[in-house]
Amino acid sequence: MKSVELLACYRWSTLHRDQPRKAFSCGQVDVDVWLKTKALQHQDKRLSVTKVLLAQNAIAGFYTLATGQVDFGDLPTSIAKGLPRRALPVAVLAWLGISSQVQGQGLGRILLSQALLDCHTAGQTFAFTAVVLDCVNDQAKAFYQRFDFQEVPGRPYRLYLSAAELASLLEAESQA
Ligand SMILES: CC(C)(COP(=O)(O)OP(=O)(O)OC[C@H]1O[C@@H](n2cnc3c(N)ncnc32)[C@H](O)[C@@H]1OP(=O)(O)O)[C@@H](O)C(=O)NCCC(=O)NCCS
Repeated sequence: MKSVELLACYRWSTLHRDQPRKAFSCGQVDVDVWLKTKALQHQDKRLSVTKVLLAQNAIAGFYTLATGQVDFGDLPTSIAKGLPRRALPVAVLAWLGISSQVQGQGLGRILLSQALLDCHTAGQTFAFTAVVLDCVNDQAKAFYQRFDFQEVPGRPYRLYLSAAELASLLEAESQA
């Protein structure tokens, strides 16, 4: 994950109003509605940042990152152990989707890798304890669990990857 390699036909961009976000469909309505109607507004308000993977001018995929806080008691004990009993900083992988037209070609893996790399890089400046996300359904959960995300105890659709695990993952990949 040290650097995410892309085929020449794809490029990254921060979401921009000229990009055809209304045409995007990943087959999951909530995810599509977010990109079509909310992502840009939230970005303009500095609430989140959405990055898109462009194939020519079409949006092949996107992810949205934000910062957040969780209560001490809402983190798994493996992360919370030794931390102060107060709200703790997290990176939030808020949304992620790949266009239905190009699913199953490895782009979801690339998107998630880039999102985690962004989190790790930001974490060198603004520390966080874990990357957290809320799954939209069981399929999404199965996808994230392939990439070392674990369930928050008692919250079956909330998954986490500790910042320490993320750093080890990146280190292992950079040495591979
Ligand atoms: C989930 C999603 C992002 C996967 O994208 P994708 O481009 O099809 O995934 P990839 O082709 O990169 O697959 C990467 C790996 O994950 C696996 N995978 C893909 N979808 C999976 C799923 N639903 N459950 C389990 N594994 C899955 C693939 O088999 C592949 O494994 P491999 O590398 O061992 O072959 C895509 O299906 C999607 O956008 N779904 C709708 C939106 C959504 O659910 N977003 C997540 C919540 S916000």
